[in-house]
Amino acid sequence: MDKFVIHGGKPLSGTVTISGAKNATLALMPAALLATGTFHLSNTPVLRDVTTMSSLLKSMGMKIDFKDHVLTLETRDVHKYEAPYEHVKKMRASIYVLGPLVGRYGRAKVSLPGGCAWGPRPVDLHIEGIKKLGAEVELKRGYIHAKASKLTGARIHFDISSVGATGNVLMAAVLAKGTTLITNAAIEPEITALAQFLTSMGAKIDGIRTSRLEVEGVSELHAVDADTIPDRIEAGTFLIAGAMTRSTITIDHVQPEHFAAVTAKLEDAGCRLHVGKSTVTVQAPEPIKPVDVIAAIYPGFPTDIQAQWIALMAIANGTSVVTDTIYLDRFKHVPELVRLGAEIEMRKNAAIVRGVKYLTGATVMSTDLRASASLILAGLVAEGTTEVLRVYHIDRGYEAIEKKLRTLGADIQRVAGDEF
Ligand code: UD1
Repeated sequence: MDKFVIHGGKPLSGTVTISGAKNATLALMPAALLATGTFHLSNTPVLRDVTTMSSLLKSMGMKIDFKDHVLTLETRDVHKYEAPYEHVKKMRASIYVLGPLVGRYGRAKVSLPGGCAWGPRPVDLHIEGIKKLGAEVELKRGYIHAKASKLTGARIHFDISSVGATGNVLMAAVLAKGTTLITNAAIEPEITALAQFLTSMGAKIDGIRTSRLEVEGVSELHAVDADTIPDRIEAGTFLIAGAMTRSTITIDHVQPEHFAAVTAKLEDAGCRLHVGKSTVTVQAPEPIKPVDVIAAIYPGFPTDIQAQWIALMAIANGTSVVTDTIYLDRFKHVPELVRLGAEIEMRKNAAIVRGVKYLTGATVMSTDLRASASLILAGLVAEGTTEVLRVYHIDRGYEAIEKKLRTLGADIQRVAGDEF
């Protein structure tokens, strides 16, 4: 397990290119199961989660090649319709194969994902949605067994807006017989990207970008080439890095409208932002003003940037409250930030963050992907040396983060070793 060694206090400058979106890629890859042929996905990020999804799809018979950020998926020989526990335990997004497998091949055996690092994350909405489309679903020995000779369009209302359940049901519905109406569908940009990808494959979907998706089933889809949207979470993370290190940096290859909630809050914190068509420049404030955020579904403030925001607020000039309404327990980073000198008190799903003048380097432990990002950000400004252990979490979702930060002037090294 590698660790990062960070010598804090270096100002950043320059431009960093944002990679393709992890969560869009993880939806587009299994969508390829819906058609026979060769797909090319460009701007695919080099991430551990992409490798995990690749090995899962390969285990089903897909041929996959990944070069220069172009992922080639060849689906002619898909013959196995199973997502084993070994894959799903590594990455919950493996559940995305459920919808396309049942929709196209009429059967699927997918391991239940279980909990995750910060608490329970159920998949009941995925299962209910597939059942509404006519699949018979049984839960046996930790696996979802689903089968259907042909799915049939249905009306599906999600009690909770879920990215994964919307994506799964959408992928199941595109080849179903008749019309499916999904209400309270997720409207995250990654779902829009998936719906557009499916449309380019020949699917008929109305209401893209809205919470009401109407799908007219078609008998067949075809392979296509696509370009993955930029990662709005990586974008937000780098903007916060600029703000925290009191620097001016530019992120490029982004779609700023996808993270407007983050740029608005950065402005409230005193940052000056220059928003271009595909770039954003952040100029850090002095001091950083305390700003409350409530992480909520899109277009609200992303839960995937909640941890990084707490790191920023940890050095703000006053007290702020950071609340997560999506994952009530997603605060594993808090005790680790406290080890670096942050003053944070938890009240249910809200962190009360009392800004301090400085953080101090220490050894901290990554517990999950976004928690790791917040610890790296804190390490960039902490006095002295910070060691962030178990950085395999960060490799799941940030492409070469230490190289990108080094390009901007940070002093961060990856150290390989077993003992971390
Ligand atoms: C996706 C993202 C993840 C992000 C999350 C919320 C991917 C691969 N992951 O995760 O990075 O943090 O959206 O923006 O895209 N829920 C249920 N039952 C279900 C499904 C979800 O109760 O069957 C609840 C969840 O516990 C959560 C809420 O719905 O409270 C939203 O979760 P969801 O949008 O499904 O998250 P994921 O798709 O797992």
